[in-house]
Amino acid sequence: MNKILVTGGAGYIGSHTVVLLVEAGYDVVIFDNFSNSSKESIKRVEKLVNKKIELIEGDIRSKDDLQKVFDAHKIDSVIHFAGLKAVGESVEQPLRYYDNNVYGTVTLCEVMAKNGCKKIIFSSSATVYGDPETTPILENFPTSATNPYGRTKLMVEEILRDLYISDSSWQIVLLRYFNPVGSHSSGTIGEDPNGIPNNLMPFIAQVAVGKREFLSVFGDDYDTHDGTGVRDYIHVVDLADAHLKAVNKIDDFSEVMTINLGTGEGYSVLDMVKAFEEASGKSIPYKIAPRRAGDIATCFADPSYAKEILGWEAKKGVKQMCEDSWRWQSSNPSGY
Ligand code: NAD
Ligand code: WQD
Repeated sequence: MNKILVTGGAGYIGSHTVVLLVEAGYDVVIFDNFSNSSKESIKRVEKLVNKKIELIEGDIRSKDDLQKVFDAHKIDSVIHFAGLKAVGESVEQPLRYYDNNVYGTVTLCEVMAKNGCKKIIFSSSATVYGDPETTPILENFPTSATNPYGRTKLMVEEILRDLYISDSSWQIVLLRYFNPVGSHSSGTIGEDPNGIPNNLMPFIAQVAVGKREFLSVFGDDYDTHDGTGVRDYIHVVDLADAHLKAVNKIDDFSEVMTINLGTGEGYSVLDMVKAFEEASGKSIPYKIAPRRAGDIATCFADPSYAKEILGWEAKKGVKQMCEDSWRWQSSNPSGY
């Protein structure tokens, strides 16, 4: 079976994807610098799949670190999750984001090319749609970035398209994730943010478990059904499954593929609060706060292209997202 290099494989989406890849019979090598994750996540994945997983600790910005992977393993394709992802931090530290996400990806591609490995699946984001004029969002909608993080995703997409123009033997898939949430049904791996969570679901989970007093709801005057922001939350295991399907099909693609990964359904902040209360049996106190700078009212995918091209669609609904997220949070209140 083919060997897959998973950069950022110790992180939230990477660790869930590794589980599915190994279960499907792929050999996996994880490459991570643990800047936003811990080795414990890999230990837990090994327990889940009952198999030792190859790990090479290193930084995607280091050609020497990356070359160690290709010296030790014959890699068929790369799933590239490694990157920094905090929007607010990217505004304060733009150079760090361009260095890590853009330079890091360029370096990865250089080392891949040198070693004759030209298949890459890249973690892009719905953030590349900026503030869309209409929803649901199709892949051919105009793109724009409102912060350095989003710009790194757009730049990498463009760089990968240029790479393909220069050498069409590359096989490239750009997966644009909407809002990944939830965790593996075992509750042993999950999202483990550092410090105060930036994102809604981990924040709600920490309120439910008693680590935070209340949720600040950022704005209740948007043009949505209850005034709070609407997003397309997607279960991380569904997302992981889309990566498995993309790896399985990558040899069939003869152009750069750009694919939305969402459910196609939008839920508001207050919908999510209610769903989490029902799943956890805990009450989630909240206060209405001012809008957060840069937020948009509504964002949800048209996921029909993913179905057509990958034969993939999201299976898990909001109830399961909340139940699984609660299982992880309540059994690991301090994360890993
Ligand atoms: P994460 O922070 O949990 O995982 C990223 C992993 O990459 C971490 O383990 C981190 O240690 C590693 N890493 C970071 N920089 C590295 C470097 N220079 N060298 C080696 N390893 C490095 O994040 P995640 O939520 O799993 O996200 C994975 C990818 O998906 C990221 O590229 C992110 O931008 C993208 N994405 C995430 C979301 C989301 O909401 N979680 C949405 C859209 C896109
Ligand atoms: C969801 C909704 C908030 C926190 C971000 C990135 C995006 C992508 C996914 C990586 C919004 C509201 C949130 C809180 C709240 N990541 N909210 N109180 O902003 O849709 O997307 O993560 O690519 O690029 O921008 O996700 O979870 O932060 O917010 O009211 O404490 O919850 O205003 O309406 P977002 P989010």
